[in-house]
Amino acid sequence: MLERLLYQSTPTQEFGSLALFKLLTDAQHKNAQMQITGHLLFVNGQFTQCMEGPPGSIELLWQNIQRDPRHQHIQLLMRRATEKRRFPEWSMAFSTYSAFYVHGMRGFFPVDANDQSPLIDLCHEA
Ligand SMILES: Cc1cc2nc3c(=O)[nH]c(=O)nc-3n(C[C@H](O)[C@H](O)[C@H](O)COP(=O)(O)O)c2cc1C
Repeated sequence: MLERLLYQSTPTQEFGSLALFKLLTDAQHKNAQMQITGHLLFVNGQFTQCMEGPPGSIELLWQNIQRDPRHQHIQLLMRRATEKRRFPEWSMAFSTYSAFYVHGMRGFFPVDANDQSPLIDLCHEA
């Protein structure tokens, strides 16, 4: 059994390319160890993150996320059991404006002119 969790939050600090690069590469490294996969969206001054993995790992990460001073107004949007991963290939894919791309970022997807990424809806689909 796996769990999938979706939340939204607002950064408490200005995130530039390098801060995002560090956040993402740290997350990808830790997630790989915890068998977590998912997607992080950063547009319009908001994070939306979908994570999936073993319930114990999800609970641990969710506790960490809620304590992280780099963001606030953390709102849980969905948490449910699931059988199958939606992001099996990405320890944390990342969709944002192409201007934030740093060479070497893995799992990077530029958003389109409407701030949309093809990965956004994957988390919600039945
Ligand atoms: C928007 C946002 C997304 C994050 N995503 C992850 C993540 O996917 N995986 C992760 O391990 N940490 C993530 N973090 C960092 C965690 O909040 C926390 O700093 C980290 O898990 C602490 O790990 P440590 O206890 O090993 O220091 C994220 C932080 C922010 C602000």
